[in-house]
Amino acid sequence: MATLQDITGTIALAGAGKMGGAMLTGWLAGGLDAKRVVVIEPMPSVEINALAARGVRLNPKDAGPIETLVVAVKPQSFREAGAALKTHVAPSTLVVSIMAGTPIKVLQEVCGGAAVRAMPNTPAAIGRAISVACANPRVSPEQKRLAEALLTAIGESVWADDEGLMDAVTAVSGSGPAYVFLLIETLAAAGEKAGLSPELALRLARDTVAGSGELARQSSEGPGKLRENVTSPGGTTRAALDVLMAKDGLEPLLTRAVLAAAKRSRELSG
Ligand SMILES: NC(=O)c1ccc[n+]([C@@H]2O[C@H](COP(=O)([O-])OP(=O)(O)OC[C@H]3O[C@@H](n4cnc5c(N)ncnc54)[C@H](OP(=O)(O)O)[C@@H]3O)[C@@H](O)[C@H]2O)c1
Repeated sequence: MATLQDITGTIALAGAGKMGGAMLTGWLAGGLDAKRVVVIEPMPSVEINALAARGVRLNPKDAGPIETLVVAVKPQSFREAGAALKTHVAPSTLVVSIMAGTPIKVLQEVCGGAAVRAMPNTPAAIGRAISVACANPRVSPEQKRLAEALLTAIGESVWADDEGLMDAVTAVSGSGPAYVFLLIETLAAAGEKAGLSPELALRLARDTVAGSGELARQSSEGPGKLRENVTSPGGTTRAALDVLMAKDGLEPLLTRAVLAAAKRSRELSG
């Protein structure tokens, strides 16, 4: 795999908001030379402005040839932003987009270049994203390695051969952090109803989700087995799981939620 230290060309980041800013932080922490980075952002935050002192070029008049353009503007800004961005794209430029619901076909129409469409998620802010990426046939193996290096700087990444999967990916991992935050909120609220103080209920709920997620990640056992391991017949966990695993329990609810998100992603791409 190419590493960020191997990068010799210029990387331009268009849109240094929440996700673009998190990616940039990951790249610099991962050893990317700040002088290689150009940021195109109308309203840079204090943190992004401060990176100028490290050599990041902010909105330069002439950025010179761009090896890779990472597009992290909102999808609805893309058509408008695209005209300006196109001036940075040569036929050999790799365009990596993290915009939700924006197909490779549209990236190509607006920007040209070789295109990678990726879907990270917000744990990127702490280097724990999971991203799925797909590439069009114009992307060379070397460019794929470069895209992978940029994505693994903010967590893990997986390639998908079929762009059609991106709606389902968006519905599971792109939007997924919101479902998990809701789980924390509702578990804490339920804890309050069971008699806990709001502070303790939130702490227990948050750390239970975080610890269980990490255990599921590190364990050689699947989540089903880990669940069985903490469920004694006739015990407290069983009593709760009988509710959660009922016919109208969590599975049909989460399935409906994920299918609704995938449908919305298809509508936005259309
Ligand atoms: N947040 C997520 O969970 C998530 C997950 C996966 C993918 N994504 C994708 O990541 C992208 C960014 O999302 P975000 O949450 O980081 O949004 P955000 O915080 O609003 O960041 C977008 C940034 O792009 C800037 N921008 C707008 N027009 C521009 C232009 N013409 N040229 C350059 N920069 C421009 C915006 O500046 P202004 O504020 O001045 O408009 C803003 O700083 C979206 O396409 C989203 O679909 C987000």
